[in-house]
Formats: sequence, C-alpha cells, structure tokens
Amino acid sequence: MDEKLTQIQDQAVSALEAVPHADALAEWHRRYLGKKGELTQLLRSVKDLPPEQRPAFGQAANQVKAMLEAAYQARLETLRQEELMRELQRGAFDVTLPGRTTPPGHLHITTQTLRQIYAIFAEMGFQVYEAPDVETDELNFGLLNMPPHHPARDMWDTFWISEGVLLRTHTSPGQIRVMRERCPEPIRVILPGKCYRYEQITARSEHQFYQVEGLAVGHNITMTDLIGTLSQFARRFYRTEGRLRIRSSYFPFTEPSIEADINCILCGGKGCRVCKYSGWLEIAGAGMVHPVVLENGGYDPAEWSGFAFGLGVERPAMLKYDIDDIRLFYDNDLRFLRQF
Ligand code: FA5
Repeated sequence: MDEKLTQIQDQAVSALEAVPHADALAEWHRRYLGKKGELTQLLRSVKDLPPEQRPAFGQAANQVKAMLEAAYQARLETLRQEELMRELQRGAFDVTLPGRTTPPGHLHITTQTLRQIYAIFAEMGFQVYEAPDVETDELNFGLLNMPPHHPARDMWDTFWISEGVLLRTHTSPGQIRVMRERCPEPIRVILPGKCYRYEQITARSEHQFYQVEGLAVGHNITMTDLIGTLSQFARRFYRTEGRLRIRSSYFPFTEPSIEADINCILCGGKGCRVCKYSGWLEIAGAGMVHPVVLENGGYDPAEWSGFAFGLGVERPAMLKYDIDDIRLFYDNDLRFLRQF
C-alpha cells in the first residue's frame, strides 16, 4: 500500500508539471483527487489493512492528498498567469479602453412633479411638513370630523394594518399633526406623501398615488385666499392660461368645501376617458378648515380660521405632460419613464 501511495504521488506530480493549460487541469484533478480518483480509491481501501497499520497509512495518504491539493492550486495560478501574459502579448486586451459606465438614471416623473410643486408653494411661503403613511383611524377619520360610522368614510376605503391602524387614504391627517405641533403659531405648510385606497384601478385612478396637502391657519383667512392660492398654483404649474373651475363640494373636515378642476389640456375640452368626457379634470379638493378640526388641532375657531386643500400629483402631471393613463406612472416601463 505504501508503495502504491508513493507511486500515485510521483505520477501525479509529474503529470501536473506536464498539464499544458488551465482547462486540462480539471481532468488531472478528476483523475487523482476526484470522487473516483486514484488517491481517493486508495484512501477507501484503508479498511482492508490490518487494524494496527491503518492509522499510519491513513495519515500518510492524507498528507499526500493535502500536498497534491496545494500543488494543484499553485499550478492553476501559474497557468492562469501564463495565459494572461500570452493574451496581453497577443494584444487581445486594450487596457486603455474606457470601462463600462453605469447609466446614472434620472428622477422619476412623480418626483420631478413633486419638486415643481414644492418650488411653487415655497415661493408663496409654504414650508414642507412630512407625516407618516401609516396612520390611526382617529387621525385619518375621527379627528377630521368623521366619527365611526360616519357615511363619508365610505368615500375612502383603504388597507388596514390592524384594528384602528391603516394606510392613510389622504394627506389630511397631517393637518391635525401639524396643528398640534405648531399651536398657537400661525401655519402655512404643504404636506406631500403617498396615499392608499382600496379602489378600482382605471386610466385616472390608482390604488396608490401622491397628494400634496396644503394648510394655512391664521387670523382672517378667507375663501378668497384659498382660490387665489390655487389659481396662482395652476398658472405657475402649467405656465399657460390653464382655466381653473371652482365647484361647491362636500368634505366633513372643511366648511364650506370646494373642488378645483382644470380644463383638460389632453382633449382640449372635447372630452376623453381621462376627464370622463367632461372637458375638466379634478385636481384638488379644498375648503375652509372646519371649526371642529381647528379645535381638534388646538385652535379656537372664534379667533382663528384657515384653508386646506388636497392636491393630486399624478393627475396634474398627466395634463402637463400629455399622459393619458395614470397606470403608466408605476408600471416601470423604461420606454415611458425615459421620456421625462
Ligand atoms: C381628498 O382626499 C381630501 N382629503 C382633499 C381635501 C384636503 C379636501 C383638504 C379638503 C381639504 P379627494 O378624494 O377628492 O379628496 O382627493 C383629492 C385629489 O387626490 C383628487 O382631486 C385627485 O387629484 C387625487 N386623487 C384622488 N384619488 C385618486 C386616485 N385613486 N388616483 C390618483 N389620484 C387620486
């Protein structure tokens, strides 16, 4: 057995020296060290030796195995280096070629639109205030004048995290947060963020979308301030004489409430599926902050008044960039995203 071991070792060492290139090394490895390799077979036959000879032979065979593994690794490295040198000499690599660059990408159309909105409201003195996406039922509904079982809750079905905790349906709960934090200071903030609704996805409605809430609280704030702010926004955002239409509406947290529409630039007013064939697209719900909401925020409605609005983000962008389907925003189709 010892002789056989020496013989395998000698043969393997000289065969290794003769291996011409890295690919052929695999064959050498299989032949001597593989599962059915010569050395492995020999190691398996230890059991045929008398018990007193087994430990010494096993030890010797394992040493040879370790030596051959190390020799194999060293030879592999040598052959690789030789091959690299040959390639370089042949001029196959042009080391002066520039590397592959990673395309830097660009901001998503929603982010671009949000930044435009921030800039416009910043010029009008509004600060950006962030509120969480996961809200309590109390903040999303209750403190906004919609106690449990209030029918207006039906307008905003959503995804529930647990009992009393939900994904916010609008950015309006941020109104309460900011009022409680700033009271008794006057307020002029916008609250951007994602909203979630359990509703049918269509060309104009997503189940996740962005809103920018606006809130101004002070003394003698009137509806005229609200309409002026919204029309100023529309003029700056569309950089055209986009026409704003104000309709009366209903929200439990504003009184009176209005809805602001902009004329549909996509169809020029003729009617299309985005504007539901009306020629107008709703961009915001708004109104004068309801006295109950002011109170819930810590402000005395006898002294303070305020306006609030909830502006969509994707819908105004659709009109500005001529996009006829809101689903394109989050489909991740680069052919769409690269256009902006
Ligand atoms: C609200 O969410 C109120 N919180 C707005 C508000 C705030 C009123 C403050 C008064 C005071 P509404 O559900 O209408 O209202 O949504 C407001 C805007 O969000 C819409 O005008 C629209 O631009 C956008 N929006 C609403 N639902 C979707 C949707 N499913 N997909 C895309 N945009 C939507």
